[in-house]
Amino acid sequence: MSKPFDFELERLTRPSSYSGMSRGARIGPRGTFFLETFGCQMNDHDSEKVAGVLLSRGYRQVETPEAASLILYNTCSIREKAAQKVFSRLGEYRAKQSDGKVIGVLGCVAQQEGEQIFERAPWVSLVCGSASYRKLPEMLAELEAGNHRVTGLDTDTDETFETEVTRRDNPWRAYLTIIEGCDKACSYCVVPYTRGPERSRASDSILKEVRQLADLGYSEVQLLGQTVNSYADPTPRKMRFSELLLAVADVPGIRRVRFTTSHPSDFMPDIVEAIESQSRLCDHVHLPVQSGSTKVLRAMQRTYSRDEYLEKIEMMRQAKRPIAITTDIIVGFPGETEADFEETLSLLDEVRYDGLFSFKYSPRPNTPSLAMNDPIPEEEKSRRLAILQEKQREIQTARNTALIGQTFEVLVGGKSRRENQWSGYTTSHRVLNFASQAKELLGTYVQVRVTGAGPNSLVGEHVA
Ligand code: 5AD
Ligand code: SF4
Repeated sequence: MSKPFDFELERLTRPSSYSGMSRGARIGPRGTFFLETFGCQMNDHDSEKVAGVLLSRGYRQVETPEAASLILYNTCSIREKAAQKVFSRLGEYRAKQSDGKVIGVLGCVAQQEGEQIFERAPWVSLVCGSASYRKLPEMLAELEAGNHRVTGLDTDTDETFETEVTRRDNPWRAYLTIIEGCDKACSYCVVPYTRGPERSRASDSILKEVRQLADLGYSEVQLLGQTVNSYADPTPRKMRFSELLLAVADVPGIRRVRFTTSHPSDFMPDIVEAIESQSRLCDHVHLPVQSGSTKVLRAMQRTYSRDEYLEKIEMMRQAKRPIAITTDIIVGFPGETEADFEETLSLLDEVRYDGLFSFKYSPRPNTPSLAMNDPIPEEEKSRRLAILQEKQREIQTARNTALIGQTFEVLVGGKSRRENQWSGYTTSHRVLNFASQAKELLGTYVQVRVTGAGPNSLVGEHVA
């Protein structure tokens, strides 16, 4: 099968000009590592766990590839553009390996390309997909012994990646993967291929980690999974997803619980009831729709129709507490007509989302939609994307403007270089930039009154 990005990889990693491998790069347990991450929050969190494994093995993390003996690149292949980044990085790394550095490719591109990466970029010593991270200690031992061809490419596992040590980037919000892989089969998506089948983590192990996080001072946790609400507790306790949410919210010290990404087909009323009954569960649901046309949804193998999706939205709109809703949309899927696209636009009018991530369809290797006829020209995809984004911009501006005058709780996560300016997230995951005379607010919860609004953020002032 020809892959759309092969040409680029070939150009950047052509073996004929390569001569660095014989230098025999070596690393040792007291080495240093540089880890760069691309892609989704699952990748970000995988990198936190990978860093934990390395730190507990005696490695030290450094800020630049120049300072590292081991360079790791955690990759994303959800769209072609994301996947291409690894190729340009590998081109840069070629020279670095000849300085005696060991280079590894982790994540979705590693899984997708497999051992071909060694053929095209012989200066790479480790190729490891996310389903094999639990074997990282063994793989590191092999690298330390000087092996130049270390792989972890199995996806036929029922295990999840749990580590003793996780090096978390954010001191207040902790990510926690509760379900790995994906058992859905959306026709455009590489995830079932690159991350393997769905595996849920044991509820007791999740709750133990949440208690540890609370002891460490984290007050917000975000439960992660490609289809987080498909969670199926493997223990005899068989906790439902909504029960797990409530149990996490009950851990002393936890003030905010988020979860992402939800799949519409598994989004049930008990999740909404849990959000209604427990204010520590955040009033925000990310529910990707992908298209407003039932015909396109069928071609995408999304397992629901437009009307079925709208029933889930209605369920949330009926909740006793307002719930912010965000989504993902793909434009230009093969066969998407102007009329189908209009249906996506009308869905935006109907739902009035609080946020939208929109993408041009990108054909991916190993996906069923790669072989579909009726491709949409790139310029047409761009046109549809621009129209969609403009419409959503208007909707967000209007929705945010309607919040002026209201007061929200914000977890302060940033301090501006401008004096007395801070920023943070509301429970509904809106960015709120605000003024305060307080000396130190980072990591605290404050009340902020909204005084202004734009499409992507709110402006306000600290209410003492
Ligand atoms: N092309 C474009 N967008 C995609 N997504 C997943 N696969 C593709 C693809 N092949 C989008 C979906 C998904 C989000 C994470 O990325 O909207 O929800
Ligand atoms: Fe990909 Fe669909 Fe699974 Fe989401 S639900 S990860 S889009 S296959």
